[in-house]
Amino acid sequence: MSVSILVGLQWGDEGKGKIIDVLTKSVDMVVRFQGGNNAGHTVENGTEKFVLHLVPSGILYQGTDCVIANGVVVDPVGLMEEMKGLAARGVDLSHIQLSARCQLIMPWHKELDAFNENTADPSKKIGTTKKGIGPSYMAKMARTGLRACEILDKARFEKHFRDEAAYYNKLYVPHGAAAVDADSAFEKVWAACEYLKPYIKDSVVEVNAAIKAGRNILFEGAQAMFLDIDHGTYPYVTSSNTISGAACTGAGVPPKAIDMVWGVLKAYTTRVGEGPFPTELNDELGEHLRTKGGEFGATTGRPRRCGWLDIVGSRHSCMINGVDYLAVTKLDVLDDLDEIKICTAYRIDGEITEHSPADTELMKRIEPVYETLPGWKQSTSAARSWDDLPENARKYLNRVAELLDARIGIISVGPKREQTFRK
Ligand code: GDP
Ligand code: IMO
Ligand code: MG
Repeated sequence: MSVSILVGLQWGDEGKGKIIDVLTKSVDMVVRFQGGNNAGHTVENGTEKFVLHLVPSGILYQGTDCVIANGVVVDPVGLMEEMKGLAARGVDLSHIQLSARCQLIMPWHKELDAFNENTADPSKKIGTTKKGIGPSYMAKMARTGLRACEILDKARFEKHFRDEAAYYNKLYVPHGAAAVDADSAFEKVWAACEYLKPYIKDSVVEVNAAIKAGRNILFEGAQAMFLDIDHGTYPYVTSSNTISGAACTGAGVPPKAIDMVWGVLKAYTTRVGEGPFPTELNDELGEHLRTKGGEFGATTGRPRRCGWLDIVGSRHSCMINGVDYLAVTKLDVLDDLDEIKICTAYRIDGEITEHSPADTELMKRIEPVYETLPGWKQSTSAARSWDDLPENARKYLNRVAELLDARIGIISVGPKREQTFRK
């Protein structure tokens, strides 16, 4: 029996959804604890491919409880559409729980997100998903946000909704943001709220009861360490804490309940949106990784920036998350390369450092110091065990584990469930 947390160690899209799906086979409850529908978690079971945004990635295993916990910001319309899309494909939704404490993303949050992005000085643009994530966490911190529990009382919800819509229109529309028509917006949002009502539960009580009963629980992180609001490449980050510690606040569970932490590490690095990326490859090699890895955003379709594995950043990530085991994904994407580089240190203004700088301005000046390993030049996608891997692929993985001082628990060599094995 175990209570585990799974988080991304880079800039997101490490393959968290796939690994959650694989682990769910022996899990009773999967819990999303932060972020919102900025996440795009891809799961391929057999012949079908699903991209999940708010619904936990354990949903394809019938009977597994899937909890959207208090730390998640929920767009009611987005969640309803996602659930209806899954139901139309025959997925059983009866085990979904939506925490009564979730903050709701409202139409004006999305308008404000788009307004900020479109009007910002180009050098200050963050490249958000425009899903309203930042503005809804702003409302949470300002203590003006609407929460899922309010859906249970229509009159109260409608009053709060109209007050906040009016406040937004008064404050932002004179500066050029799009106005929100409260009548039509309410009608649309309320229809989604009615749909979601039966799923609203006190998930804090449910998750803690599951822990007490000794059930296997997996906390599903979204985004990743370098998008964390405190520990990422601020301000080019998302608006939540994405690290393992956030599972406790985002689901209302005590730290001592956690048994282990999985860190998902892509065998190279990608990033979507703006911000520094020391090992980025703006060349044919970067293009090769993008094409071979299918590196296009699961939520926005934007091309992902690609580059070599960054040990300095990943080591920092393992430290903050307290990673017990790594799940290394997308090894197969490196199959064709003659040689593979790993960034083992940073040179900043002539000085060598093995630590990730706090100041993002310094990060922009990083020159990566690389170690070069030979490629394996053969397909790994049919490998089903450590011994099936070419020797140079094993050497690459062993070197990564050594540099990160971490153990590899899972290796993934393709998007499908069966393209996964334990070390
Ligand atoms: P997440 O946000 O961390 O869940 O990751 P995404 O779903 O956004 O992006 C990962 C992409 O890589 C998806 O298209 C997955 O289907 C795919 N994927 C996951 N693991 C592997 C792997 O080992 N090899 C390959 N080639 N693709 C993978
Ligand atoms: P998953 O869970 C990759 C990025 C956006 C942008 C920044 C802020 O699929 O790994 P936001 O809309 O959150 O305010 O955008 O964060 N971003 C992600 N990048 N994967 C994600 O989620 C992301 N969620 C947000 O591109 O740079
Ligand atoms: Mg993703």
